Amino acid sequence: MKTLELNNKVIIPIIGTGTNTFGKANNDYMGEINHNTTELIDALNAGYTLIDTAISYRNESVVALGIKQSGVDRSKLFITSKIPADEVYTKDEESIKNAVESSLKALDTEYIDLYLLHRPLEKNEDNVRVWKELEKYVKKGVLKSIGVSNFKVDQLAYLLEHCEIKPTVNQIESHPGLWNDEIIEYCLKNDIIPEAWSPLKRIPEASMEVLKTLGLKYNKTWAQIVLRYQIERNIIVIPKSHNKERQIENLNIFDFSLSDEDKQLIKTL
Ligand SMILES: NC(=O)c1ccc[n+]([C@@H]2O[C@H](COP(=O)([O-])OP(=O)(O)OC[C@H]3O[C@@H](n4cnc5c(N)ncnc54)[C@H](OP(=O)(O)O)[C@@H]3O)[C@@H](O)[C@H]2O)c1
Repeated sequence: MKTLELNNKVIIPIIGTGTNTFGKANNDYMGEINHNTTELIDALNAGYTLIDTAISYRNESVVALGIKQSGVDRSKLFITSKIPADEVYTKDEESIKNAVESSLKALDTEYIDLYLLHRPLEKNEDNVRVWKELEKYVKKGVLKSIGVSNFKVDQLAYLLEHCEIKPTVNQIESHPGLWNDEIIEYCLKNDIIPEAWSPLKRIPEASMEVLKTLGLKYNKTWAQIVLRYQIERNIIVIPKSHNKERQIENLNIFDFSLSDEDKQLIKTL
């Protein structure tokens, strides 16, 4: 498994499993929590070590249960969770403390590898205020790394100007049809690792045809081509699948490389 080094020297796997519909009725994001751990255990058995969850997904406790049932040692895993931007979680020091503590409790862990501010708040000053609280937990060793999600260039630039501890990651939507290259380039230039959410979703039909054709050339699937493109430019990907075979397929991207010409083509999709 290829890894990257965050700007605080922490090592992070370049691919992880998304979980936003895991442990939910009908695999529906809004579905009731049914504590089904099948997909998470399949993912761990397939070799995923990075798990991406969030308070908003309501399934941190399902992740904890799956890890326990899998028998995989906590220390071998890289767990990401996220504090929602909503006022109830971010309005003051106490709310932020409650959010961090609720994640630790639900995840049944002493520490979280990476904790992200799930979305920017309306005002830059408020992002900084929340960030300063998260920094306290880094100093306590409870949050090993902190980062942001869905931040645009101006929001990230403001945070960079006012933070003491630099964000390590910006988790953003990125896939053919919406690469979000402006923020990706800004992150890479500032030693913040971009992490692509929904790496396999919302791909335009015409782009899909090109990806499938490229897949034939490399003897890979369209999904493997997309994921490989991202990891070749040092972007973390967190694909999610409820299907064991596709989970394995998405991990099987370390035995080929894309030609410069093909990367140029994929960039235009
Ligand atoms: N920070 C944020 O604001 C944010 C927002 C959205 C998502 N996320 C995170 O990012 C993760 C991934 O995003 P996502 O779940 O929205 O989308 P995704 O992982 O890009 O795509 C999931 C869909 O792709 C299918 N799929 C997976 N592998 C495939 C393959 N090899 N071939 C064909 N189809 C495949 C899955 O179906 P099957 O299950 O049937 O395989 C599922 O329908 C989430 O789970 C969550 O952890 C973060």
